[in-house]
Amino acid sequence: MSATPNLIELDDPDVWAAIAAEQTRQQDGLEMIASENFTSAAVMQAVGSVLTNKYAEGYPGHRYYGGCEFVDTVEDLARDRAKQLFGAEHVNVQPHSGSQANSAVYLTAIQPGDTVLAFDLAHGGHLTHGMKLNSSGILYRFVHYGVRRDNQLLDFDQVWRLAREHKPKLIVAGASAYPREIPHSTFADIAREVGAKLMVDMAHYAGLVAAGIHDNPVPVADFVTSTTHKTLRGPRGGIAMCRAENAKALDRSVFPGTQGGPLMHVIAGKAVAFGEALRPDFKIYAQKVVDNARALAGALASGGVKLVSGGTDNHLMLVDVTPLAIGGKLAEEVLDRCGITCNKNMIPFDERKPMDPSGIRLGTPALTTRGMGIAEMEQVAAWILRALKSAADPQVVATIKRDVAELAEQFPVPAAKLEMPTKLETAAR
Ligand SMILES: Cc1ncc(COP(=O)(O)O)c(C=O)c1O
Repeated sequence: MSATPNLIELDDPDVWAAIAAEQTRQQDGLEMIASENFTSAAVMQAVGSVLTNKYAEGYPGHRYYGGCEFVDTVEDLARDRAKQLFGAEHVNVQPHSGSQANSAVYLTAIQPGDTVLAFDLAHGGHLTHGMKLNSSGILYRFVHYGVRRDNQLLDFDQVWRLAREHKPKLIVAGASAYPREIPHSTFADIAREVGAKLMVDMAHYAGLVAAGIHDNPVPVADFVTSTTHKTLRGPRGGIAMCRAENAKALDRSVFPGTQGGPLMHVIAGKAVAFGEALRPDFKIYAQKVVDNARALAGALASGGVKLVSGGTDNHLMLVDVTPLAIGGKLAEEVLDRCGITCNKNMIPFDERKPMDPSGIRLGTPALTTRGMGIAEMEQVAAWILRALKSAADPQVVATIKRDVAELAEQFPVPAAKLEMPTKLETAAR
């Protein structure tokens, strides 16, 4: 049986050149952006399947288009698996992204102009939690809580005070850059006392929740949203969950409230990923993500950088690089030149600017998917420290880049299983 020729390369060499270069970048480098991961080859096949051709506005059994019998099965599988994974009464798997899932919950739970209490972007929150240029910040009146100056942990005295003072209609918990476990039941207590609804955006740590490692917000929150592509290791997309009593309203807010036709190929990818996350080996994976993060954080801290809150309980850490006489912007650039990809990040109470903050954010989900463990984390920490301490030395950067590529070669990315033959290989067959 002959393998499928590389149709992208044959039909559109320009696009293929960029895809091939990205594939090489992912294989040869170390991906440490905390919100990124490598989906399985099966998830990628689902997302590249014929389901991309299908319109399916509506929900299983109630569509506005014919021919939906098979995509109905796919969406039911995705919904049932997500319900099982998180113990949710209702799940909507159609949000195109985490941002869309959050918009849909706002549309369900509050009215334009209502007050919402959420985590400050500058302390680790997300832009859909009320940033002034985001639709959330334009449509609703957001008030923000942060972390404490002394220990950089969530400041619950402040959350209580702001909740009593502003009487928000909705409290939002969840973060993009907070290295500790979030105590959802404390937020639920506060929401109950002030008569607010609680939404938890677990986009970053949903995989740890699925594995039973991080506290599950579903039992205590009115609404839970997530992305599917971070620690959960699915395709790029979102989900929104709620109790049965809010199911109809939430579904209406996703479609037709904020979206048209669902991306059925992505929903198939979500179904496959949720199936993977239900298997026992996903628990082992998620535990390794956390163990690796702790090892990386420990090695970095003993090398002279400062970690926000002193460490990590989850998959990410915020590293204040300024003790090494370097800023976050240059740190990101130097590491990039070494083949280590991460992002510059504000640290709480940062005195530097967002485009050149004091920190970088590092995460372990992607490296752990490749099979790396504690020994590799210690090695990576040593490279990071060396690179940051000798930022101006191209010789050091070149040596680290070579060593990084050697390590990366030993840990293939899942896409390697799908690699399409190039023109030359096809011709040789
Ligand atoms: C906490 C949180 N919520 C929502 C999102 C938005 O997800 P998306 O980029 O899929 O819109 C992110 C993405 O980084 C996030 O960190």
